Amino acid sequence: MYPLIFFNNIGDERGSLVSLEQYKNIPFEIKRIYYIFDTKNGVARGFHAHYNLEQVIVCLKGSVTFVLDDGMKKESITLTSPTTGLHIQGLKWREMHDFSEDCVLMVIASELYDEDDYIREYDLFLDKVGRK
Ligand code: TYD
Repeated sequence: MYPLIFFNNIGDERGSLVSLEQYKNIPFEIKRIYYIFDTKNGVARGFHAHYNLEQVIVCLKGSVTFVLDDGMKKESITLTSPTTGLHIQGLKWREMHDFSEDCVLMVIASELYDEDDYIREYDLFLDKVGRK
């Protein structure tokens, strides 16, 4: 349900290198990149869905567990690799749990930041996906 994108590691004997390019290994025009790091112990984030946002999420360092929910079922996936992208599109409730202390989580997004694109109430999310 939640496709992973596996990036080529084009590094050499000196070490690893991954290149991300819109419409190549990132399936949309890249309008924004943000990253989450130094997350405090025990903190969970997210708890929202988006009306119109596509994202590829890459755990550059450490690990984090995503809970993704389409209103029918919840799926949990732990990201641990800078060569794997989690592609999220459509109405999906997302939560992030169990950040490792060293976690650096990069999010590549198809739109600029827009608070009006967020659904922050779970009941409203269920309503929008037709589960209420
Ligand atoms: P939010 O998306 O709620 O964080 P998370 O889903 O990781 O828990 O964003 C936290 C705050 O930062 C919120 O007030 C909106 C602001 N923000 C921006 O201004 N620009 C951005 O690109 C993002 C992602 C958040």
